[in-house]
Amino acid sequence: MCGIFAYTGNKNAIPILIDGLTSLEYRGYDSAGIHIPQSGTRKAVGGVSQLKLQNINSLQGTSGVAHLRWATHGEPTEINAHPHHDMSHKIHVVHNGIIENYKEIKESLISQGYTFVSSTDTEVIPQLIAFYLYTLKDFEKAVFEALNILRGTYGIAVTYENEPQKIITARCGAPVVLGLGMDENFVASDPTPILRHTKNVIYLSDGEVAIITPQTHAIYNLKNIPITKQTEVIDWDVEQVQKNGFDHFMLKEIMEAKEVVQNTIRGRIKINEGLVKLGGLELVEDKLKHAKRIIIVGCGTAFYAGLVGEYMLEEHAGIPVEVEVGSEFRYRKPILDEHTVLLAISQSGETADTLEAIREAKRKGALTLGIVNTVGSTIARETDAGIYNHAGPEIGVASTKAFISQLTALVLFTVFMGRTRSMNISVAKEILNEITTLPDKIEKILLQKDTIKSIAEKYSTSRDFLYIGRKYNYPIAFEGALKLKEVSYIHAEGYGAGEMKHGPLAMIDQDFPSLAITLQDSVYEKMISNIQEIKARKGKIISIATEGDRVIQEYSNDVIYVPSVHEMLSPILAIIPLQLFAYYFAVTKGLDVDKPRNLAKSVTVE
Ligand code: F6R
Repeated sequence: MCGIFAYTGNKNAIPILIDGLTSLEYRGYDSAGIHIPQSGTRKAVGGVSQLKLQNINSLQGTSGVAHLRWATHGEPTEINAHPHHDMSHKIHVVHNGIIENYKEIKESLISQGYTFVSSTDTEVIPQLIAFYLYTLKDFEKAVFEALNILRGTYGIAVTYENEPQKIITARCGAPVVLGLGMDENFVASDPTPILRHTKNVIYLSDGEVAIITPQTHAIYNLKNIPITKQTEVIDWDVEQVQKNGFDHFMLKEIMEAKEVVQNTIRGRIKINEGLVKLGGLELVEDKLKHAKRIIIVGCGTAFYAGLVGEYMLEEHAGIPVEVEVGSEFRYRKPILDEHTVLLAISQSGETADTLEAIREAKRKGALTLGIVNTVGSTIARETDAGIYNHAGPEIGVASTKAFISQLTALVLFTVFMGRTRSMNISVAKEILNEITTLPDKIEKILLQKDTIKSIAEKYSTSRDFLYIGRKYNYPIAFEGALKLKEVSYIHAEGYGAGEMKHGPLAMIDQDFPSLAITLQDSVYEKMISNIQEIKARKGKIISIATEGDRVIQEYSNDVIYVPSVHEMLSPILAIIPLQLFAYYFAVTKGLDVDKPRNLAKSVTVE
């Protein structure tokens, strides 16, 4: 959801800014732009490759701001691309977020003779700063005055021609991280573009403003009072944000599934005692013991992980669970109290809908927890306690490895909660033993990638797909369908297999294939009946089946096998062939799977 990046130092700013934008491209690619104070601005509709065609090397300077846009207000045209500027072209701003009171600010400035060129909300920011600069004659003071007028969400970086090495950045509801280097400093929407320069970062909180020059950084609140913030050291490596020989991040990240499970469980399981140690929950352990119910909140893929978590926690930890999408949660009247735990699941830790659900739950006295991948993100900081996924940075817009790690973290959380309740040591040991077998089993699935590729190619002319599953793999049907939709723009529906006869069966014919998760588990017989119902209507079946199941071949046109595993862990295996299927399907169509149209990673608007 829009990416901002800024640099001030003693090196040529152009390649640094372009490089930074390239690694931020998963946040938006409707338009791209850079501004170098005292040199100029370049903008382009599309992503960084289009921007590079705009004679950028004719710019010169050792500081600047850059932006990738995911359009909210105004079409993705060059005029609406950031950086935006004031009428004198002295103040330039890049912005991630939405200024809610932009209309009234714009009208007031127009009535005082200001003219606007774009149809964005952002343009009011440089204009308002210029308005205050005119009377105050002080760049810093003018920015503070303007920030106190703005309502809505923003992560911004501002430059001023007369003080070219100074960048002012501020955060309100949209992430901003400072990177602190040697004689150079950075601002970005997330640490990815900073990593190759420095691992020392400071995450700004809402209502904080930072002023950076090559040698200095200072942080203030909105009243211009200095604040001391701790520097954190990121433990991600640069290689983790590169493709490392893979054609796409999506494929690289699917192929990382084995390491992801290993990293999520590392140091957290004590098999002999049947216990799970989750350091991030230690401070709230007592409250968790007395919790009466859990509400899981997430969006998209994270929501589907939550649905699997509901089955896990209710069956094995014996605690009531409800799951809700973040975007709906606070628009009803959720009944929450101090015995309710709200568990937010989020890869980015910045999703606005999920964050607002957390805030609502906090207001009502619930304990809030997070299963979050991005260390230091807003959700990680605003929840009372939590579990980090340790999946490493996820760059592909379609979430794959983060989903694997969310499910793995939910297994750990289930055993953790279960052992304070009805789960006995032998059940816990069995689950924990099984979890350690996952990496090898995942490897076996990944080795079949070429088979999955040829199945995807075989069905590449189909325009509609159905995904069906039951029990633990009911949410996997939704997630499998979501993966195909978002990277292939193909109609795919996830359905509970038992629901087919209540309506969707009517759609089935020879041109409407179904992917059926038909594992040898407690609902196997039921699934077999359901796929027979589809077969009887000439529907084609691609089954995700348990290794060794020959019977399934009778009912299926194609079969992808996954190793046998404890039923509760089976979604972690079953989703992998579906991720690979979606990936290869989109590649066959020649689509850019890492940057699906209309989407962006990290959805920081509601
Ligand atoms: C789908 C996908 C999205 C995200 C959703 C939540 O592949 O990536 O559905 O899962 O936007 O994002 P996070 O997990 O960052 O809160």
